[in-house]
Amino acid sequence: MLKMGVLKVELVLLLNLLLVSGDVYNNEVSEHSLELTQSLNLARQELIQETCRHFPPKYGLDELPPSQLEHILINEEHKLLYCYVPKVACTNWKRIFMMLSGKWNGTDVLSITASIAHTPGMFRDLSNVSKAERDYMLENYNKMIIVRNPFERLLSAFRNKLEGDTLSARYFQDRIGRRIIKAYRENPSNESLEYGRDVTFKEFALFLTNRSEEMADVVNNEHWQPITNLCHPCLIKYTLVGKSYFS
Ligand SMILES: *[C@@H]1O[C@H](CO)[C@@H](O)[C@H](O)[C@H]1NC(C)=O
Ligand SMILES: *[C@@H]1O[C@H](CO)[C@@H](O)[C@H](O)[C@H]1NC(C)=O
Ligand SMILES: *[C@@H]1O[C@H](CO)[C@@H](O)[C@H](O)[C@H]1NC(C)=O
Ligand SMILES: *[C@@H]1O[C@H](CO)[C@@H](O)[C@H](O)[C@H]1NC(C)=O
Repeated sequence: MLKMGVLKVELVLLLNLLLVSGDVYNNEVSEHSLELTQSLNLARQELIQETCRHFPPKYGLDELPPSQLEHILINEEHKLLYCYVPKVACTNWKRIFMMLSGKWNGTDVLSITASIAHTPGMFRDLSNVSKAERDYMLENYNKMIIVRNPFERLLSAFRNKLEGDTLSARYFQDRIGRRIIKAYRENPSNESLEYGRDVTFKEFALFLTNRSEEMADVVNNEHWQPITNLCHPCLIKYTLVGKSYFS
C-alpha cells in the first residue's frame, strides 16, 4: 500500500543529506521541519548504538558471508546506501532509488510498478563489491534504513502473505502455508493441507520460533526475518534512520 504521507518526512531528510553530499535538489524544506527530523534521526542512531552496546554482535563484518549484505543497495552518484526491509515501505523507497539512480525517466514515482521496482539486479548491492570498496562506501556514504515496529511488521507480513489472495499470497500459502499447517495443526482438513490458505496467526507465530534445520529455509524468509539479520545495524552505522508509522 502506498503511504506517501509517511514517506514525506524521511524524504525531506534524505534529500537534505543528498544536498549536503553535493547534489542539486531544488527542494523547499523549512528549516524547522528539517531540524526536527534531524534531531529525531540522531536520537534513533543513539538508541541503536546504546542497544548494540547491551547486545554486542557475535560476529564482525568480515565474518559475514557477503550474501548477508545483499539487502544493502548502492547508489554511487549520491553516495548513498539503503538497506531495504520488506514490509517497511520498501517498494516505495526502491522506486525513489530508481529515480535517484537514473533508472527511470519519468517524474511520477508511483508510475513505477512494484514488479519493476523489485526487478532482481536492478541495483548494485553490498554483497557484490570487493571488501575494499565495501569499506570505502561504509565509511564515506550516507547509510539509510527505515524501520517499523517489529510486531506490526510481522502482522503485516502475515496479512499480506498468508491471509491474502493475491498471486504473491497464493505463492506463499502454497510454499509455506501448507508446511505450517502440516507442522502445527491438529487434524487439519484436506483442503487446509492442500492449499495452506487458512494459517492462523498463532500457527504463524509458532512457526517463526521453529529452529529446526528442516524449516530454516522458510523461517528465514526476508519478509519476517528480523531487521537485525537483514541490515546488521550493530555493524553498520546508519546515518539516516527513518521510521514508518501507520496511524
Ligand atoms: C530514458 O529516456 C531515453 C530517451 O527517451 C531512453 O533512450 C532511455 O532508454 C530511457 N531510460 C530509461 C531507464 O527508461
Ligand atoms: C558481482 O557480480 C558479478 C555478476 O554476477 C560478478 O561477475 C562479479 O565477480 C561480482 N563481483 C564481486 C566483487 O563479487
Ligand atoms: C519444527 O518444524 C519441524 C518440521 O516441520 C517439526 O517437525 C517440528 O515439530 C517443529 N518444531 C517445533 C518446536 O515446533
Ligand atoms: C481426505 O483425504 C483422505 C486421504 O486422501 C481421504 O481418505 C479422505 O476421505 C479425505 N477427506 C475428505 C473430507 O475429503
